[in-house]
This record gives sequence, structure tokens and C-alpha cells, in this order.
Amino acid sequence: STRKIQSGNLILVGMMGSGKTTMGRILARHLNKVFVDSDEEIQFRTGVTIPHIFDVEGEPGFRQRETDALAALVVRNDLVLATGGGAVLAPENRAMMSENGIVIYLKANVHDLWLRTRNDRNRPLLQTGNVHAKLAELLQQRNALYQQVADIVMPTGRQSVHALMLKLVNEI
Ligand code: S3P
Repeated sequence: STRKIQSGNLILVGMMGSGKTTMGRILARHLNKVFVDSDEEIQFRTGVTIPHIFDVEGEPGFRQRETDALAALVVRNDLVLATGGGAVLAPENRAMMSENGIVIYLKANVHDLWLRTRNDRNRPLLQTGNVHAKLAELLQQRNALYQQVADIVMPTGRQSVHALMLKLVNEI
């Protein structure tokens, strides 16, 4: 798969707070690839924040923009791409991802996800109710989809991001 890695995308999937953006950045630097975060791309294209899009267009509006952004990004074919946690929900997105790169699932437990997202103001899905319960519910709904689309499942745990990144590079 060394051939695939040099020419294709590396696509990170997983829950909010699983470390896709952090991992993506150092992975891209290590492999000398360009890093793009799909949420950043959506904000760049629209000129407004993700919470603002959810406010105005609801989750369906955001999901459409997400699909459009992913479609535009995967064709670049040389990226490390961090996707939003819900990007795997649409079958169309899952097909796009598996056809255009090596998909990596950063698999974190609910407690770790909660530690990294509990004070977050920029994730609309975590602004109402109990964050821990919401994360557990989303993970329950999505875990099978992450597993299904992933070429590589990478459990995140006690190790540093850097150690995890080197482990990941070995598996690609
Ligand atoms: C979402 C995750 C967010 C962002 C949006 C919805 C989700 O991305 O796309 O708030 O449905 O899990 P991150 O996973 O980068 O936080």
C-alpha cells in the first residue's frame, strides 16, 4: 500500500474529540502531504461558522455542505483529510471516502471524547443536554459506520499523538 499512500488521500474518520485534526496535522507533516479539515473548508467556503450554519440551515443544510466539500476535496487526491464526526452518516460520503483514499478510524472511548469536548462551544450537537450521554448515543449510532468504512482501525488510548502517528504510518 506504499504506492497508494504516495498518490492517494489519507482520510480520518471518527467522533468529535477523537483527535482527527491533531493527528491529521502531524501525519501530514510527517508524510509531506497537505492537511485539510473538512469543517475548516466548509467555514472557508461559506465565510461563516459551523454553529451559524446549523442555526440558519439546520443539520440537513450542514450535511449537504459537508457532502459538497468532501466531493471537492477528495479529488485532490494527495491530502490528509480530517472529516467531521457525522461525515460517515451519508452512504454517498462513505462511498466517496472508500473510493478515494485510505480511510482511518480513530477509535476513542466515550470518556476520552468527553474530556476533549465537554467545554466546547463550537459543536452544535453538544450544546444541549448532557454531553457525556450525547457522545455515548452518537458513538452507539455511528461506530458500525466508522468500522464499515475504515481500512484501518486505530484505537486511541494512553499513548501520545506522536507515538500513535508513527504506529499508524507503519500500518498504512
Ligand atoms: C459533527 C462533528 C463536527 C462538525 C459538526 C457535526 C458531528 O466535526 O462537523 O459539528 O456530527 O459529529 P468534528 O468531528 O471535527 O468535531
